[in-house]
Amino acid sequence: MHRSSIALLCLGFVRAILQNITVDDTLPDIVYGGRKFQCNTATPCDESTDELFNQSATLTSGSITFNFTGVAYYASLELLGVADIMLDGEVLAALNITTLSDTRTDYIFKTGLNNIPHTLSIVPAANSLTIIGLDQLIYTASLPDKKSHVGAIVGGVIAGVALILGLLLAALFARRRKLILRRNQRKSAVLRGITVARQNHAAGEEDAKELPTSS
Ligand SMILES: *[C@@H]1O[C@H](CO)[C@@H](O)[C@H](O)[C@H]1NC(C)=O
Ligand SMILES: *[C@@H]1O[C@H](CO)[C@@H](O)[C@H](O)[C@H]1NC(C)=O
Ligand SMILES: *[C@@H]1O[C@H](CO)[C@@H](O)[C@H](O)[C@H]1NC(C)=O
Repeated sequence: MHRSSIALLCLGFVRAILQNITVDDTLPDIVYGGRKFQCNTATPCDESTDELFNQSATLTSGSITFNFTGVAYYASLELLGVADIMLDGEVLAALNITTLSDTRTDYIFKTGLNNIPHTLSIVPAANSLTIIGLDQLIYTASLPDKKSHVGAIVGGVIAGVALILGLLLAALFARRRKLILRRNQRKSAVLRGITVARQNHAAGEEDAKELPTSS
């Protein structure tokens, strides 16, 4: 039990660091379910390719699926039409963007997720003539902080010393209590002895009185 509490204390000192990982629209980590067209320097969709991450974006009328393990995601995309933003099969948002000037989609993000594998999917409604332009996906990975291992060791040592001190103190108190108990016992034994002796003495005097006189 003491050993496990030390382990728990050590674990408490191992913190995680959060790291944003950017995944470009061109990488195979992102799976496109339908037709796609790549906008890049060779085939620019407009003049602003320079503003895109890795100078590329992917236009698609199909679904986009992305698996990641982390605590947050941020999608950099533009969308015209109707689509569901889904995480792990659950609809997080139903988008319906009908005018080009409204394609602001910087609200497609979610933080505070459990640090487990997740599936993000952007699914256009059937027959909706939806077009998605994806530039990048960012996810926040939660990695164990190697630097804090020193902290964990120091914490563990401090906890260990505290535990040993505590055990020593407890042992000392137990010993003291035992000593006091034994002294009290000895004291009462002495008292008992005195009482018994006194009684015997008194009885002896009486016996003496009753002793038959020698004939
Ligand atoms: C990750 O990126 C998002 C969006 O740019 C930002 O809001 C967030 O603070 C970043 N998190 C970390 C740990 O850098
Ligand atoms: C940029 O895009 C190219 C393909 O066009 C790809 O090979 C490369 O890995 C991308 N770079 C990053 C940092 O994603
Ligand atoms: C999307 O919005 C338009 C008008 O803003 C509306 O006519 C249309 O029915 C909506 N579509 C869905 C699937 O909600």
